[in-house]
Amino acid sequence: MKNLVSMKDLSVEQIMAILKQAQLFQEGASSQLEQNYTMANMFFEPSTRTKMSFEMAERKLNLNVLPFEAGFSSTLKGETLYDTVKVLESIGIDALVIRHEQNNYFESLIGKVKPAIINGGDGTGNHPTQSLLDIYTIWQEFGTLENIVISIVGDIGHSRVARSNADALTRLGAKVHFVCPPKWQGEFEANNDFDEVIDASDVIMMLRVQHERHDGVSTFSKAEYHNAFGLTEEREKRMKDNAIIMHPGPFNRDVEIASELIECDRSRIFKQMENGVYIRMAIIEMILKGRE
Ligand code: CP
Repeated sequence: MKNLVSMKDLSVEQIMAILKQAQLFQEGASSQLEQNYTMANMFFEPSTRTKMSFEMAERKLNLNVLPFEAGFSSTLKGETLYDTVKVLESIGIDALVIRHEQNNYFESLIGKVKPAIINGGDGTGNHPTQSLLDIYTIWQEFGTLENIVISIVGDIGHSRVARSNADALTRLGAKVHFVCPPKWQGEFEANNDFDEVIDASDVIMMLRVQHERHDGVSTFSKAEYHNAFGLTEEREKRMKDNAIIMHPGPFNRDVEIASELIECDRSRIFKQMENGVYIRMAIIEMILKGRE
């Protein structure tokens, strides 16, 4: 694996290898990297989890991390993404994590620049490292993905998390259902009634309403949305005994999920964030080892 921009880059065998390496890192294994690599994290869209978790992963792997601040970079003077990456290539960067608002931004880079590209999220397109940490969290919980029933609920059509998970979870044998209001269905086949899927689900994965990706004037009512598509305390009581709640974050309390459920016994939301560090260590190591 030279880059990771989409879950489609990974075979089922490669996904399982990443999960197993993440588990070893979580159990205390050290990096097997033999060279002194340098990375940078280029975030052109806001991020807390992905950016900080990549930085933690890079430091745990003893890599050099050069700070890159999009808001103070020469992209503001009109320098293109390609030219900016060529600058970082010239000064010796080995790998880049990039988050960008433009879908498929990486098409201008792959095969044309030397640093490895790891996609930290492209517009509404892909978020492969989030998908891998989600898969790892489910695998840790149930020991398999085979026949696990996963309901992904929310603003599906604008969600790169839903898109990345739809592909990968299905290939791993999970049964994936989508639930959302008809206007946010995108290309997905979705159920518009949340109550129909609750008692059959092993995992309920809630998604944020992505107002920043909606066009036009919003007529959105938080209370109405919460009532129809939110995970309320009443809905949580109807979940299977061993079913879990997930959310990629950031979450909006009392919109897509009741505030009381964020840290309830079923919630794996903060576990997902913890797992993200080990998954990202495994991905970075796999990519950089490919260069040795
Ligand atoms: N889940 C996720 O991508 O969160 P951030 O936007 O905070 O990175």
